[in-house]
Amino acid sequence: MPIDPARRHFVTLLAGSPLLAALGLDRRALERLIAGAARPHEAPLTIAQQAIEAAGASGARMQPTLIKAASEALDVFDFEPVAQQTLPPAHWGYLATGTDDDATIRANRAGYERWALRPRRLIDVGAVDASVSFLGTRYPTPIVINPVGSQKAFHAQGEVAVARAAKARNHLMVLSTVATTSIEEAIAERGGPVWFQLYHQTDWSITKQMIARAERAGAPAIVFTVDLLGGSNRLTMTREARRDTRECTRCHLGGAPLPGVSGRVDDRDNRRKPNLVGYDTTRRQLDTGTPTWAYVDRIRQATKAKVWLKGIVTEEDAALAVKHGVDGVFVSNHGGRAENSGRATVTSLPEVVRGAAGKLDIICDGGVRRGVDAFKALALGAKGVGIGRPYIWGLASFGQEGVETVLALLRKELEVTMKQCGATSLAQIGRRHITTA
Ligand code: GLV
Repeated sequence: MPIDPARRHFVTLLAGSPLLAALGLDRRALERLIAGAARPHEAPLTIAQQAIEAAGASGARMQPTLIKAASEALDVFDFEPVAQQTLPPAHWGYLATGTDDDATIRANRAGYERWALRPRRLIDVGAVDASVSFLGTRYPTPIVINPVGSQKAFHAQGEVAVARAAKARNHLMVLSTVATTSIEEAIAERGGPVWFQLYHQTDWSITKQMIARAERAGAPAIVFTVDLLGGSNRLTMTREARRDTRECTRCHLGGAPLPGVSGRVDDRDNRRKPNLVGYDTTRRQLDTGTPTWAYVDRIRQATKAKVWLKGIVTEEDAALAVKHGVDGVFVSNHGGRAENSGRATVTSLPEVVRGAAGKLDIICDGGVRRGVDAFKALALGAKGVGIGRPYIWGLASFGQEGVETVLALLRKELEVTMKQCGATSLAQIGRRHITTA
């Protein structure tokens, strides 16, 4: 509905008001609001009330002006709206989506708020060392670059930019099976070990070749993802894809504007998935059903690389992982995009630690957005924390520099939290440093 001159005048007045900025609304949102108002000259207070309700209903947070350079970011959240503005809707939807109503994404965040710090005072924290060893390589921080698929959907350099950032900041990086960069190239760009996240294929002979290839390329660990075996119901992704009117045939079969979802079993469109192509398909060994623990044994027998499982959230499964000789687990619900459990990974972490009984290394991911979150997970027994969306926000916004800045911010925040709590090394961080909020 067009806005009449009296309303336009009112919009102009209100658009200049600090109230609008404080509500995270812009002029266009305000125009929509006023165009939809029932009466031609609603009292300013009524409009302001509607604006407050609209901001609340849409979950809008008080938003500063979008940052224009990575160096302006104060925390990782500063990158999120820039990424959203930069990406086409379908690609944004692929990144942002959880499952069903995305409740588990929110739960992952809320989980961290249920824990509070117990800082200790008067300890010399002049020097702090947050370094950790994974498979014989020392990293200055336990913040792990978790696998995220299809990164060239977020930036032209995709995983290459991320590998360069991992090299510059010396972080452990895990590459997705459905990456848009090969494991060989990722390792070359990283200039050091990159772990390979594995989505099994229904043909075991291909899965076996993928494992052998990753090992040959220099990946010291195979991270078998076990949380998507029942599929996942990604509605935000589908909704956003429907809003995307671009012509997508250059990258997607049939022009469907959906980046490959998981690629693990039936993603037919592998043109941009180099880790899924180039295998001998003549000696097929087709599996029926979905993997069980026997499949984990098979993977272990197929490789000398370490075998980790990603997606373990219970004590029972952690104990089974120990029994099956697994080397480590990611406590993960796939960033709230596997089952919509409504349970935070940081809530699952203590029981996984119990089940592991000191025999597994543990990385916890899901909802880690600040150094203080990482500290809490470490206090609960994780050896490292994985991040996904935050570094992709950085990538989509400012390429390698954005990724590096996200990594640097999180590292700085973690180190500050360690100092504030009187822990100068990861070994000193313990359960005593946190309490229920
Ligand atoms: C891939 O891992 C995805 O979650 O889409």
